[in-house]
Amino acid sequence: MQLFALLPVLAAFVASSSAVTVGASGAIECQSETIVSETFIGKGKDVQMTHSHCETSTSKVEANDVAAVPDAPVNNVCSASCNTFCFSPSGGGPNEDDCKVIADAILYDSENESATFNATAAGTASDKITMKYHSCTTYFLTQNATATLTYCRQDWASLVTWLSSDCNSANNAHGGLCVAADQQWYVQVQNSG
Ligand SMILES: *[C@@H]1O[C@H](CO)[C@@H](O)[C@H](O)[C@H]1NC(C)=O
Ligand SMILES: *[C@@H]1O[C@H](CO)[C@@H](O)[C@H](O)[C@H]1NC(C)=O
Ligand SMILES: *[C@@H]1O[C@H](CO)[C@@H](O)[C@H](O)[C@H]1NC(C)=O
Repeated sequence: MQLFALLPVLAAFVASSSAVTVGASGAIECQSETIVSETFIGKGKDVQMTHSHCETSTSKVEANDVAAVPDAPVNNVCSASCNTFCFSPSGGGPNEDDCKVIADAILYDSENESATFNATAAGTASDKITMKYHSCTTYFLTQNATATLTYCRQDWASLVTWLSSDCNSANNAHGGLCVAADQQWYVQVQNSG
């Protein structure tokens, strides 16, 4: 599991990133979220997928911002290593079975839609991609303001499984996140509430 190194010190990540704020619960919170699209994915079409932007992510969205980065380079970040930070203490985390439904839906899409997906540059209208099923919510957030990121669905599914189990109540946590070693993105798993 070298790809998902477990680092227990959330403060180290917060100190190195000004793009996010951490709420009282420890989870990174989205402020002033603007949703651009919503759909349902997976075999049962029961996992909600949303594309959105939070004012907390890097920079403000300007009008026509997507068009403003017309020839953004595309960085393939599949298999990139990331560092895990769990939110303590235990209690109030997502149900692992609900997270498994999301992981399975992402794998379903990986096989039946496309092995990869694109996430637009930080600061664009759809730089955050969220998957939600009952108590479990996970999202992929781009932190690179100048590039589109291509990521592998299999990797996201693995992270959902990894974070929901390694950051569960038995480990004195209620979710967590994995931040790319080069800071270009992170994946968070948390309670939907
Ligand atoms: C892809 O779709 C087929 C047909 O619905 C299904 O049998 C298969 O399990 C799906 N793949 C995954 C990984 O779920
Ligand atoms: C991601 O973007 C690149 C460049 O625009 C494109 O070639 C590729 O097909 C896109 N991949 C997906 C999965 O949409
Ligand atoms: C963001 O993407 C650009 C273009 O590919 C790259 O030069 C830069 O290093 C990336 N930023 C980070 C923090 O990796």
